[in-house]
This record gives sequence, structure tokens and C-alpha cells, in this order.
Amino acid sequence: MNDKKTMEQIISYAKRRGFVFQGSEIYGGMAGVYDFGPYGVELLNNIKKSWWRANVQLRSDYYGLDSAMFKHPQVWEASGHTSGFSDPMSECKSCNTRLRVDKALEKVGVAADEKMSEDEINKLFDDNKSKIKCTKCGNSDFTPAKAFNLLVKSNLGDFTNKGESPVYLPGEACQGIYLNFKNVVDSMHPKIPFGIAQINKAFRNEISPRNFLFRTREFEQADTQYFVRPEENKEAFEKIKEDRWSWYVNDLGINPENMRWKQHDNLVFYAKDAWDIEYNYPTYGFDEVEGIHDRSDYDLSVHSKASGVDLSYVDQVAGEKYIPWILETSMGLGRIFLAILSDAYTVEEMDGAERTVLKLSPELAPVKVAVLPLLKNKPELVEKAKEVFTMLNKVMVSEYAETGTVGKRYRKQDEIGTPHCVTIDFDTLEDDTVTLRDRDSGEQKRVKIAELLNGLA
Ligand code: GAP
Repeated sequence: MNDKKTMEQIISYAKRRGFVFQGSEIYGGMAGVYDFGPYGVELLNNIKKSWWRANVQLRSDYYGLDSAMFKHPQVWEASGHTSGFSDPMSECKSCNTRLRVDKALEKVGVAADEKMSEDEINKLFDDNKSKIKCTKCGNSDFTPAKAFNLLVKSNLGDFTNKGESPVYLPGEACQGIYLNFKNVVDSMHPKIPFGIAQINKAFRNEISPRNFLFRTREFEQADTQYFVRPEENKEAFEKIKEDRWSWYVNDLGINPENMRWKQHDNLVFYAKDAWDIEYNYPTYGFDEVEGIHDRSDYDLSVHSKASGVDLSYVDQVAGEKYIPWILETSMGLGRIFLAILSDAYTVEEMDGAERTVLKLSPELAPVKVAVLPLLKNKPELVEKAKEVFTMLNKVMVSEYAETGTVGKRYRKQDEIGTPHCVTIDFDTLEDDTVTLRDRDSGEQKRVKIAELLNGLA
């Protein structure tokens, strides 16, 4: 469990060890924007690789996609985002700090339903204002809540609609899948049920970005949309839930005690069911990593109507034509990255000293093996170590490290989660064997260089 870890530890560790940096830090930073550093981008890419393998490459019923971020302005009108994609916002009357009202109410134990009108939210807000404090000045005097649209506008020159409505950055990644449904059907001729998967960026004008990578203004989503025959949704939905849970536990190696399911109480009007996979983040507690939604025929119906292009599926087997229903999975890459880091981050004792170790599965580790010459001032050791490093680096991401004592170099590799270290010493020069050290147990054994790859597999 994560009770003994704090998010402060994770944030400072992530910066110190080159995983995550504040966006535009040298200019004072930007709220809700983060950059992934040298080890962070390796971990992020490994998460994406694992997700893509499980959801596209190992599935004969799923197709991959990478759609453009800029989309015709009508997309966001048809999807309902220009009118309904908003959060209730208020401002502190003393210092103008913005407040997301539903989240502020939640903090004082009052649940605001997503479907509530502005008047209903304001009634709740008025009744509970005295318990809510401005995060900056501590006052409790706020303007009434107003719906604040989360779409981010771009100034892309748009000649398709004569500049009548702006070209937005994507508020969610899945729209690109709906736009390409017909292209995939016409080019790949899939049999229903089938899915389309993609990883893409999303941008939201979050009122109060918070909790490090958890709520940001720019993030990536890994989405699948599974198309089924109308009302043949239930069994497929349960199977998708099972597959998703299994990926977290069996592929990523996340401790299932730190995960749980949460079903939505208040569904949007077109949804038939919605569940979240939650993770128990240090300090913040359980919160959503991924949403699994039964969206009925809503998305393809609204885009059929607005575009005038028939997005029905012709079911040759059943001899029918219909708009498929959609089962969606949508995972925030920043949130799963933070969950993985939190789960793997461990401070423990080894050989009578405290060490920090990132217990990542080898598949996720940014560096798979580090090669260390015992001494850096012995050219013959350095030369042999570089030779072994070059050999290993052709097959897996490897790191060469020669500075500091071997013990210190082991500790640094433990901290970034490197599963194995290979040390080149004087015996190596005699018999072509090396010391192979295991990150988790600290155990060391002698291995022939020729057999190293088997030992690392
Ligand atoms: N297409 C459905 C959709 O976008 P969502 O619940 O708004 O649904 C899906 O988002 C996932 O995207 C969430 O479970 C979360 O992991 C991630 N996400 C949403 N807003 C985010 C934000 N501001 N920062 C980071 N991740 C976010």
C-alpha cells in the first residue's frame, strides 16, 4: 500500500532523477503543464508500447490509428463540446483566484451532480460557501458559479468555414476515431464487433490544474473504441473491464491492493454505463486513472447527422444496416505514469543502509542494464566495459557509468529502476566473466559474457 509514501517525495524524486520537469520552468513555470525528462520519456514510451501491444498488436479485432490534432470546427459542435464541455467556475472577490466549484464542494463533503443546472449548483454553493476557503487568501466571499468552457482555441487560419468558428485543440482524443470510423471500415473491412485504438494529445482549459500530473492542461489519452451491434453491449463491456484490469496487474505489475473500481452514479444522457479504474495515489488517495464508458450509438449518430455522411455499418452476416454502439476505454498517460512511479517508488534498507529503489517491471524500466568498469582509471577495464556496453546496447537500452564507487553507481541505477548491473573487473580480463547484480535482491553472480544476454532476458 502507499500509506508511507507522500506525493511530495514522488515529485521531488521525479525531478531529481530526470523523469518530470515543470513546463517552462526557467520562465517561472506554467500551471498544469509538465515536460518528461530523459528517463521519463523512456518510461512513458515503454507504457505506450505495452498498451499498444496489448490493445492493437495482440488483437486481431482492433485497428491502430493516429489522427491529426486539428479537426474541422463542426466536430466540436456536433460532439456537444462547444456547448456542454464546461466546469462551474467562480472567483474569489478579494484576490480573483479562480475556483472549480464542484471540486470545492466535494472537498467539504457535498456532491455536485454533473447534470445540475447553473441555478442548482449556485444554490448548493450558497448553502456551503461559509465552509469553502479561497486557496490563496483564505476568504469565503465568491462570485456566483458560471459554466466555463474547457476547449482550448487555436488561431490556425481556417479557410474551410471562413473563420466563422475557431479551430480548437482536441478536448478529447476519441473524436479522431469517430471521424475515421468509415475510413477504417472501407479500407480494412472489419467484421463487427471490432475496435479502433489510438494514443493522442488532449488539451483542456482546466480551472484549477492540480496534483502534479493528475490534472493538467495538456495531456495524452490512450483510447479504444469498440463497435458492437446495437444492444449487444453488456457482455462485451464486462470483457473489456476484465481485460483492462488484467493489463494493469499482469502487464504493468501494479499492486492490485492500490486499485479499485468505481461505478458512476450520474450518467450523461447518452451513456448506458460508466466505470473508473482508480489508483490509490500517495497523499491524494484513490482517484480516476481510466474511464470505461458505454456510449450507446450517440457519437456516430451525431456525426452522421452533422456531416450528412451515413456512418452506419452494413452487417453482411446479419443482413442488416445500423449505427453501431460504442464501448470506450480512455486512460490518461500522465495519470498512469504517476501511478506506476508511485507504485514502484520504494525506500528500504539493504545491507544496513537506506536505499531508494524503483521496483519497475523490466519491460517498463527506462534502462534495462548498466555496465560499470570497477575502476575508471584502468584503461583495460574501461575498454572492456565499453565493448560489453556496445554489445548490450544493440539489443536493449543500456547505460555506461564509470564515475563514483561501484556501490554508489549501483544505488543510482536502483533509483531509476535499472533491473541489472554488469561490473567489469580484473577477473573479466582473465576469464571473460562479469558480475551480474540483481536490482531487487542485490544478489550478485558470475556470468560468462557470452551468456549475458540469456541472464538478462
Ligand atoms: N473520451 C472520454 C474522455 O475524455 P474523460 O473522463 O474526460 O473522458 C478520460 O477522460 C481520461 O483522461 C481520464 O480517466 C484521465 O485519466 C484523463 N484525463 C482527463 N482529464 C485530464 C486532465 N486534465 N489531466 C490529466 N489527465 C486527464
